[in-house]
Amino acid sequence: LVSIRDMYRNKEKYIDTTLEIGGWVRSIRASKNFGFIVVNDGTFFEPLQVVYHDEMDNFAEVSKLNVGAAIIVKGKLVATPDAKQPFEIQAEEVYIEGPSSSDYPLQKKRHSFEYLRTIAHLRPRTNTFQAVFRVRSLIAYAIHKFFQERDFVYVHTPIITGSDAEGAGEMFRVTTLDMDNLPKNEDGTVNYEEDFFNKETSLTVSGQLNGETYAMAFKNIYTFGPTFRAENSNTTRHAAEFWMIEPEIAFADLKDDMILAESMIKYIIRYVMENAPEEMAFFNQFVDKGLIERLTSVANSDFGHVTYTEAIEILEKHNDKFDYKVSWGCDLQTEHERYLTEQIFKCPVFVTDYPKDIKAFYMKMNEDNKTVAAMDCLVPGIGEIIGGSQREDDYDKLVKRMEEMGLNAEDYDFYLDLRKYGSTRHAGFGLGFERCVMYLTGMSNIRDVIPFPRTVNNCEL
Ligand code: 4AD
Ligand code: MG
Repeated sequence: LVSIRDMYRNKEKYIDTTLEIGGWVRSIRASKNFGFIVVNDGTFFEPLQVVYHDEMDNFAEVSKLNVGAAIIVKGKLVATPDAKQPFEIQAEEVYIEGPSSSDYPLQKKRHSFEYLRTIAHLRPRTNTFQAVFRVRSLIAYAIHKFFQERDFVYVHTPIITGSDAEGAGEMFRVTTLDMDNLPKNEDGTVNYEEDFFNKETSLTVSGQLNGETYAMAFKNIYTFGPTFRAENSNTTRHAAEFWMIEPEIAFADLKDDMILAESMIKYIIRYVMENAPEEMAFFNQFVDKGLIERLTSVANSDFGHVTYTEAIEILEKHNDKFDYKVSWGCDLQTEHERYLTEQIFKCPVFVTDYPKDIKAFYMKMNEDNKTVAAMDCLVPGIGEIIGGSQREDDYDKLVKRMEEMGLNAEDYDFYLDLRKYGSTRHAGFGLGFERCVMYLTGMSNIRDVIPFPRTVNNCEL
């Protein structure tokens, strides 16, 4: 079977030849002795029109096909210079592989994203989701390409873990214990020594701590895998299961970290615009007008920089506009992040040097002893897309910080060892993959860029 993508990319090779394609019926229009079928084979954004005639034995049967049916068409590809599409197939045969019943839930009209979420198994057959999930796939590839071209080693960090890397306590438990008959310690607490791993375990919230150990051996590494957060936030930007890209670079500080993040974002934008022009044009027209212009400008100009302290000074002047008023020491909410990047900077911006008390234990303390060498990258339309930092590389300072934050140093032996055996300055960040896909497609709900989303109260399919 020839793919429609190949036909578009290599027209000269296929025009005026007889070939076969396989795909799903998008629409069908039949008259007495001929008909038109629009077929999409999933390989290319543009569908293909098939013209068929009553010379075919199964003409009547084909004319009765419903939207969604799977067919194979054999015929000649002819140029159609006056039509919107550059060519069509004049069918000699239409083989019905699998008919579709008349209650096919996707019809030739615009369905709402809310409705399409209820049929997650069929929505990838619509234009919007064909575009979203092809672009999602391309972004994943672009990210690997970016890091591989720079000799970063891809590390597969574990999904089941015994430590809470972010210290936020938002973990999904992993256990084989019988919930109705839990083994108990004398004080009534659950005895996890009887569990599969002889300890309490969870799904990972971040591969960072494991990633750091590999950075201390390979210098530059990245992870790219699923992460899990049991955050009870029912928003358009939070998922319980999402993918994260976490590079970690040794002999590097926070500045190097931000340079890496900025070049990565720009690289992804350029890659997708070059390799998915049809999909990007579609988003620009139907999902987010101005998307292409905005991304082009982002790819060609410098990101903004502001310290947390400066950001608070700016935001305090606009406190009347916020539901949640800011003051030094508070964590930035989405409304503040978006205000900074959309109204003040009008471009992606790095906010740096956050108060230590609102950030994780592993971040490097600044000389003021109040802030840490952290950076968040905020983008218009979303807010935080990247969170990163330079890591504390001093053994004593790290132990002290862990004690202050009530962490059990014994659980982090391996992590502390890195500060004992050849420690060096190092930094890294986490890019939320889904938020990155939202940013590049203009889609405004995280549920619509995940094939099968898992969010609060929702684990369908
Ligand atoms: O800022 P976070 O929590 O940083 C870390 O996990 C660090 N360990 C990263 C590092 O330095 N290696 O998460 C990183 C990014 C966020 O900026 C956001 O884009 C995304 O992960 N993210 C989520 N995306 C979707 N749903 C959620 N619930 C998310 N939580 C974080
Ligand atoms: Mg963060």
